[in-house]
Amino acid sequence: MEAPELQIKETRRRRTFAIISHPDAGKTTLTEKLLLFGGAIQAAGTVKARKSSKYATSDWMAIEKERGISVASSVMQFEYKDCVINLLDTPGHRDFSEDTYRVLTAVDAALMVIDCTKGVEPQTIKLLEVCRQRNTPIITFINKLDREGKHPLELIDEIESVMNIHCAPITWPVGMGKRLGGIYDIGKDEILVFDPEASDQKNVKVLKGLGDDALRGKFSSEIDDTEEEISLIKEDGRAFDTEHFLEGELTPVFFGSAMNNFGVVKVLDALVEEAPAPKPRKSIERTVAPEEENFSAFVFKIQANMDPQHRDRIAFLRICSGRFNRGMKLTHVRSGKDIRASQVVSFLSQRRETVEDAWPGDIIGLLNHGSIDIGDTFTVGEKLNFTGIPYFAPELFQGVTLRDPLKSKQLQKGLQQLGEEGAIQVFKPIVGNEIILGAVGLLQFEVVAHRLKAEYGVDATTRSMSFYGARWVTSENSRKLIDFEKQLAGNLAHDASGSLTYMATSKPNLDLTMERWPDIKFHSIREHAQKLAS
Ligand code: G4P
Repeated sequence: MEAPELQIKETRRRRTFAIISHPDAGKTTLTEKLLLFGGAIQAAGTVKARKSSKYATSDWMAIEKERGISVASSVMQFEYKDCVINLLDTPGHRDFSEDTYRVLTAVDAALMVIDCTKGVEPQTIKLLEVCRQRNTPIITFINKLDREGKHPLELIDEIESVMNIHCAPITWPVGMGKRLGGIYDIGKDEILVFDPEASDQKNVKVLKGLGDDALRGKFSSEIDDTEEEISLIKEDGRAFDTEHFLEGELTPVFFGSAMNNFGVVKVLDALVEEAPAPKPRKSIERTVAPEEENFSAFVFKIQANMDPQHRDRIAFLRICSGRFNRGMKLTHVRSGKDIRASQVVSFLSQRRETVEDAWPGDIIGLLNHGSIDIGDTFTVGEKLNFTGIPYFAPELFQGVTLRDPLKSKQLQKGLQQLGEEGAIQVFKPIVGNEIILGAVGLLQFEVVAHRLKAEYGVDATTRSMSFYGARWVTSENSRKLIDFEKQLAGNLAHDASGSLTYMATSKPNLDLTMERWPDIKFHSIREHAQKLAS
């Protein structure tokens, strides 16, 4: 059936993206400026202020506050040039959790922020790897041009060699730091003049070409350098190419200063003009097109106890097809149960607001009491299971013991819920009683210990365990799997979803086991759907 015109229109004007960066590169500042230009907030400082006031309401987020980091991601929606933009925040600490990765499964594009004084930093590399695996189109913003940074050509080379992605500069700096004259739009052949005194760079002065006498008078050597650098870029054939951008192989590069609102509008324009609208999504059963009339969505994140007074739990759903109406009946595919979606919120500039209508690309929050898992699919009846929402094999492990043995039930419940939420991975060994926690980043352990105490009243001690890694195991040969389970019971555990996991003590141990059991598949990424398919 042909999709109604309204649905096609609404889908095509959606842009859903995340900002990725290393801490301190300027993600929060840039987010704020994007919201400002999008009219979602009235004054700078709002995002930071709201962030801190929101965090104060939640006890466990005290850790984040203490460290000045944001562990939980949020969603912001605003309109710009007839497009509806959904901006998904990614936590940005070195010790980040899997949450960050999963946010990237819910977006159609990413905006990478790089601090020009630092260049490419470790966390950006990790996040970009995930985008590359998924062929997510990436727009690059090189920030803090008002500071003395690395040479722009050096930055481009670094991005290309470290990130393994081609760069197509769209704008280029004229000078830097104290000698920042402006940015040059290569395609349009015009300079945006930098005025450090102007707080609102919306009405920035634009000059045609690089030959303006007054600007040359002030920045003659900088303009000469820019001319030379641009001709080098052109010689190297670093032109923008939509097809390569959409495949995630080439990134348009913009320069600017988020703090000074400088160069930010160009990025927003690129998002609207070049970034893709929602694309078809794969499920085990079939590929689902966003224009399809029937609603479908998947859960990419769960956040519990956002408000400790209400003990609520919000499942974040990314809509893949159809139209969402408040109060409509949704099928939770895994359980086969129908729910009435009246308790649904949207995330208009971080305020939770009740949503009436939502379209593919949008994120909605479903209030629930613990029956929904990350990776779950919602439809209007069809049996679909979206793929590509990963759990990553943990690299760090801790054993949990209780200070008060009478609290064992609370511990089990707390860990079960935190495991389902994806805050940590919980493994129950087949042999023995000690529960093992697995994480990708160390901070996850701290958050979990804190939450166990604050939310479940459990005082647990942990000890670090020296596993090399965990691998989810499956096999098409069920007899071999039973054999494997019997013989290696001492190394096996079940995770929160009941999936069988091999706990390797060392790399040689893992290699040897894999060699000895060729019929068993060892997965370093588990997908919810993988379990259903096997
Ligand atoms: P993050 O979310 O990526 O961690 O970075 P955030 O935006 O918080 O920015 C980190 C620091 O860099 C902040 O300074 C911020 O003001 C500064 N910054 C962001 N963009 C620019 C820019 O274009 N130029 C310069 N010179 N600085 C920039 P802070 O001192 O840590 O915080 P604050 O007191 O300024 O808020």
